[in-house]
Amino acid sequence: MEERIVNPNLIDDEEKIEDSLSLRPERLNEYIGQKEAKEMLDVYIKAALKRKEALDHVLLYGPPGLGKTTLAQIIANELNVNIKVVSGPAIERSGDLAAVLSTLNEGDVLFIDEIHRLPRFVEEVLYSAMEDYVLDIMVGKDSQARSIRVDLPPFTLIGATTRFGDLSAPLRDRFGVVLRLEYYTNEELELIINRTALVYETKIDEVAASELARRSRGTPRIANRLFRRVRDFADVKNNGVISIDICKDALSKLGIDKDGLDYTDYKYLRAIIELFHGGPVGVESLAATISEEVTTIEDVYEPYLLQEGYIKRSNRGRIATEKAYNQLGIKYLKGIFS
Ligand code: ADE
Repeated sequence: MEERIVNPNLIDDEEKIEDSLSLRPERLNEYIGQKEAKEMLDVYIKAALKRKEALDHVLLYGPPGLGKTTLAQIIANELNVNIKVVSGPAIERSGDLAAVLSTLNEGDVLFIDEIHRLPRFVEEVLYSAMEDYVLDIMVGKDSQARSIRVDLPPFTLIGATTRFGDLSAPLRDRFGVVLRLEYYTNEELELIINRTALVYETKIDEVAASELARRSRGTPRIANRLFRRVRDFADVKNNGVISIDICKDALSKLGIDKDGLDYTDYKYLRAIIELFHGGPVGVESLAATISEEVTTIEDVYEPYLLQEGYIKRSNRGRIATEKAYNQLGIKYLKGIFS
């Protein structure tokens, strides 16, 4: 199946190029949105700098595509330290973690993306590293096996996760700073889109920027991806100018509806409404019906649909709301019978 253009998890080659074009902000004061997280970080960073100490460990959580990695990079820039970036599932043995930790200099940032996917025994090595800046590693085999202790420089761990609830309590408790990233408002996305237009030296009409923002699901990563596709249409059909007509035409060809929902959202909502009478339906049944993984549904499909009120979650499963029926053009009869 074709990759969803609005998949907030997808990181494509173009996005890697973005870094060199500085589409990602490098300083806290350039970073748009996440007002609360920014305010807190600003204070904690300044305090750490003033005391010449390592910043306390930071946990960033929230839906994919909202800028957790960008924010980690910004924190390192503001602290004037190096950042090492690793991903939870890539660290399979405690030796892998030890190897990364031993490269850190005083005050450096270690960023672990998808930290909920660290194996449990690796996580346990992390506890003492976070708490006491020491590494307890086992060396030797069988009767020769013993633990040696290695001192680490003070460092800052920044963990990122889409699944706060999947973190073990001992790991969660070791983060001094816990920040939840929120979906962006349309106004914030419009600012980001206009900034992107400047970076790409592309002219975009005000109404087009606003339309693009409205269809970006509160997510900068999606806004920037849609921007690039719409710009392709503008380059070929409109001398590079993104007008409202070009914008609407391109998004409709990409299968994005007026509110940013795509065919996978429709498939998901249609399954609840047409196959399960609007719900409640358990996520496992739903996953089997539309041939998707439960975690994909929970992490990628559902957060935005929940936030926008297309679905509700109950202890008996997912329920499609009247808004979902309206979106699909299906008559809502629930209220009449219940
Ligand atoms: N590009 C992507 N996310 C951004 C943000 N939060 N602020 C500014 N530019 C961005």
